[in-house]
Order: sequence, then structure tokens, then C-alpha cells
Amino acid sequence: MVKTHKTQSILYSLDELRPIRSSVEQCRSYLMKFIEQYKSMNVLDVETRLLNRCVYKNWNARRAELGIQASRRTVRLLEQFLSKREQHLELILSEFKPDHVEIRLPSRGTLNQLLNSLEESSLLLSKVKRLSKVTVDRLRVECNRANYVHYNILMMSLCSRIYFLVVALEKTQKEFCFNMPAYLDYARFLSKAATRRQPSAIREATQLFARSPPTTINFASGSPNTSLFPFKEATITLIDGTNIQLDPSAMSKALQYLPTPGQADLLDWLKKLQDRYHSPQDFNRYDLCITNGSMEGLGKVFELVLNPGDSILVDSPCYSGSLDFLRGFGADIVSIDTDSNGMNDKHLNEILSNWPETKTFPKTLYTIPNGSNPTGASMNFERKKTIYEIAKKYDLLIIEDDPYYFLQFTKSEASFLSMDIDGRVIRLDSMSKVLSAGMRLGFVTAPVPLWQKIVYHQQVTSMHASALSQMVALKLFEKWNLSGFDEHTQRISKFYENQKTLMVDAINKHLKDMVTFNEPTAGMFIWMKLLGIQDTRKLIYEKALAKEVLLLPGSAFFVDQSKSYPFVRVSYSLCTPEQMETGMTRFGEVLREELAC
Ligand SMILES: Cc1ncc(COP(=O)(O)O)c(C=O)c1O
Repeated sequence: MVKTHKTQSILYSLDELRPIRSSVEQCRSYLMKFIEQYKSMNVLDVETRLLNRCVYKNWNARRAELGIQASRRTVRLLEQFLSKREQHLELILSEFKPDHVEIRLPSRGTLNQLLNSLEESSLLLSKVKRLSKVTVDRLRVECNRANYVHYNILMMSLCSRIYFLVVALEKTQKEFCFNMPAYLDYARFLSKAATRRQPSAIREATQLFARSPPTTINFASGSPNTSLFPFKEATITLIDGTNIQLDPSAMSKALQYLPTPGQADLLDWLKKLQDRYHSPQDFNRYDLCITNGSMEGLGKVFELVLNPGDSILVDSPCYSGSLDFLRGFGADIVSIDTDSNGMNDKHLNEILSNWPETKTFPKTLYTIPNGSNPTGASMNFERKKTIYEIAKKYDLLIIEDDPYYFLQFTKSEASFLSMDIDGRVIRLDSMSKVLSAGMRLGFVTAPVPLWQKIVYHQQVTSMHASALSQMVALKLFEKWNLSGFDEHTQRISKFYENQKTLMVDAINKHLKDMVTFNEPTAGMFIWMKLLGIQDTRKLIYEKALAKEVLLLPGSAFFVDQSKSYPFVRVSYSLCTPEQMETGMTRFGEVLREELAC
């Protein structure tokens, strides 16, 4: 039945599956016993990696998959065993109600690959009786997933050294959204467009091709032939003088289409990053999608949750890029005051508790928690906790836009993602301030049902973030490891902290008594109120420009741009200490002249 070089699909009846595990409940109780038994075992890294590679990656495949790791003899036995078990799809449908259950056996090529990796891993073979804690945790997770995955069986037979994973996931997206016990009713949050979004057949196929064994003969793909591209390989010299190498094989991958969420190995890295910095309460509720900068992710997230005319609660002042998007989209932007700790919870409460009955209640709150653009303000833990509780009370999703996370000068406070217990946080990260703004790399971390819709959207817009940028980032992460990334981001935050101190000194020296501001603890910006000045736009574009000093007028960051505002945004990212000194001297003169009028 399992033919050489061919992926085989087999349809099972319920009766036929029963000998494996007959129900989710049985499976769960089996696994719980299993978990109890092996809870205290040590971590075997290699085992986790194998499990990760063979099983975990495929969990959200649209088709059920059977991943097998076994000895050759076991594979033969398994084939015989499975060959008796075809047909009767209807029975499964009636019992479990998926659209259909299809179990795909990997080809012999894939099996051999798995076997090779097993054989390489003598550690695994010798310690196969002992499951690591990490694996056990993962099993627990798989077990939890049975809540919303239609039919999720992980059967591990240690004696025969077989790992089975059967995941049946052929549920419609709608069912997926509705049937997540203990989760939010995600369908409630979806815009009409997002509700309508379905997978793009061709993009899903790309995902399938990416996972198929190298021996697969692919007549299906519309991918171009990379051997015709003019690029062969690349060496990129880092600022420390060392190199990262994109050899011809890496280069060929970097020039080809990718599955939409991103390059699998880079996604793994980014998941590790998220886990390290945010330790989400249950990371398995979330998935990641790499985007062309976090701005692309933001646009997708806004369109995920908003219909034109829907209300969204935002910091005021707020990042102008988001405001411009929301304005163009036709959202009803509801400004919430901010203070030195970011979004003001009292004002938020006031707005929500007095929400007019005639107006549709908002479902989303958008905030920039660290080193906000433009205010430089950062939310402390208490403020975040309070805002989270308000979001809980009013059943709001929180869109956490955090591109300045790695530019925090003091120890970072727990993020919304870290504290999320309900699955109500969508987090956006950006590599723009850390690796490069021009590479256009960001990533969205969202609860799986929402993530899925973001992916569907990206499938039919940018398709995926630049594969070349992703490959460069991957090579860099592989070279650095997490510790290297950590050191790098610490260097960055030190630099910006030093710049901030110099800028604050220059402001205090040259603008004293003419401005007020809060000293930022993160980011690249100082938000200044000019005392006695009503319209900074006029002042900047007419008078400051003439004296060759530029600041950004605050009006760009307010919903109503027709009004005049006494604020300016000062950026300290690029200027030298000398420029800060000269620039603030000039701006001081501008202010004095203006105030003298
Ligand atoms: C608050 C905020 N969100 C998002 C972005 C967009 O970042 P990216 O370059 O990752 O698209 C920026 C850019 O400055 C920003 O300040």
C-alpha cells in the first residue's frame, strides 16, 4: 500500500481507528497516564527536535497526517497493519463531523529520512525508554489541542519505538473559530472580509510542496526555475568583520517562493525568541506569521478585526502610520489619553463605561506599550495589568504593537502577550530597529484562529515576506544564537539610552522653561510640549526650517489633524552629540523669537 516514492492517502473508518485510540477522550486519558508516568524525566534535546520536526510542525496541516518514526522492521509491520485499514470514511464523518479525515502516509523517501535521523540520534535510541520533560509537556499540549482539533491522537509506543501522530484537522475555519472551549469566541472579532477569507489553493499547495520529500516529482508548482536567476551566492560581512554565507543552496531557497507564514527555520527561531522574552502562558494557542515589516502585519490585523465604520480604541497621540491606515480604511478611531505610563486606564474606563447605546461597541484596543511613537512613554506592569483587566471586562482584543521592545533602557516589563491568559492579544514585533529597517521584517503573533485568517490575507497580498531577507536573518540567528542576539539588542538599547541622555541634556540646556517633556525609558523619541505656542506645524515648517533645524509637528499623531497642537516629536536616533547641541541651540533661538512676538 505504501508505494515507493509516493505519498499515499488512506481513509479510515472509525472502527478501524479504534484499535489505535478510539476517541479523543480515551486518547486524552491515555496520554494523561503517560504524562504522569514520565513527568519527571530529563530533557533530551535531540528527541524534542525530532519530535518537533516530524510531528509538531505539521499540526496545523489541513489534512491529517501520520508521522512515523520507526525502525525499518517496524515500518514493514506498520505497512501491513495499515494496509488492512482503508475505506469507510462516512463512519468517521458521522462520529467526528470533520469534512473528511485523510491520513497521509509519508513516502518511503520521507520515512528513510526520518529513519536516518533516528539512526543518527543514538542518544534517542538508547534512551528511548525515557521521555524528556519537554516532550511530555508537548504531549500535554497535544492533548489540550484535542479540545479544538477534531481528532488528535498522539500514540507513542515506546517498546516498538514508534511515534504516531494522527491529527485530523479538516474542519472549516468557521467551526475552528467557534469550537474552541475556554477560548474566546474569535468569530465575533472577525471583520466581514476576514470571515469570508478562505485558503488560497495555490498557496496552500506551496506549503504542501515545502513539506514533501525531496524525492517528490513536482509537476504542480508554478515556481520559477531558480537556476536561471542571475544570483549564485553571497557573503555578507557583519560589522564585527565576520561573515555570513549564503551558499548556492541557501541562495536558491532565498530566491524562491516561500510558504506564507515564513521560512520554517526562521519561524522556529522567532518562536524561540518569543518564548524567551515573553514566555506566553500557553504558547500553543498562538502562531507566528512573518510580515514585510510590522506595518504590513498591522494593516492585516486592522483589516482582520475591523469593518469600515467600526470603532477602535487607540493611544492618543498615536503612531501616525496606524492612524493614516485606519483613517483611510474608514475606522472610527477613538482616542484614549496617554500619560507617562502610556494609555490612561481611567480614561479608557470612562470611555467604555459611557459608550453610547446607539453606537456599536468596540472590539479592539491598539496600543504601543514601549517607547511609544511619538510620546516615548512606556507602560509599567501595573498599567498593563489594569488595561488587560479592562479588556477582559469588555471582551476586547489587544493589539500590542511593540517595535521598540528591544530598545528598553531598563529591565523590560512583562508584555501583554506574557500576561495573556484568554488568547486576546495579538502582538506585533519588528526587526526594523534591531536588524534592519530596509529588510522589511516583522512578525505577528496571534491566537491560532486569528493567525490563520492573517495568513489567508497575506496569501493573496504580499504572499510572504522577502525570502532573501528571511534567509539573511536566519543565517544571522544561526551564527549568533539566542545569546548573540541578546548581546546585540543590549548594545542597541545602550546606544539609544546614551543618545536619549545627551538629547535630554541638550533640551534642558537650551530650551529650559520653554518646554515640558517626560524622559523616555525606551525607544527613540521625546515628546515635547512647547509652552506658550499653539501651532507647532507653522512654527516648524516656517521658522525652524529657515534656521535649519527640523522636528516633527505633533499634529501628525492626532486623529483630528485640522486642529493645532503645541507638541513636537524629537527623534534622537540619528544625530551626533554635536548636532544635538547645535540643533537645540537653533531651536531655542526659534522659540525665544516666537515667544517674544
Ligand atoms: C509604533 C510603530 N509601529 C509600527 C511601525 C512600523 O515598523 P516596521 O518598520 O516594522 O514596519 C513603526 C515604525 O516606526 C512604529 O513606530
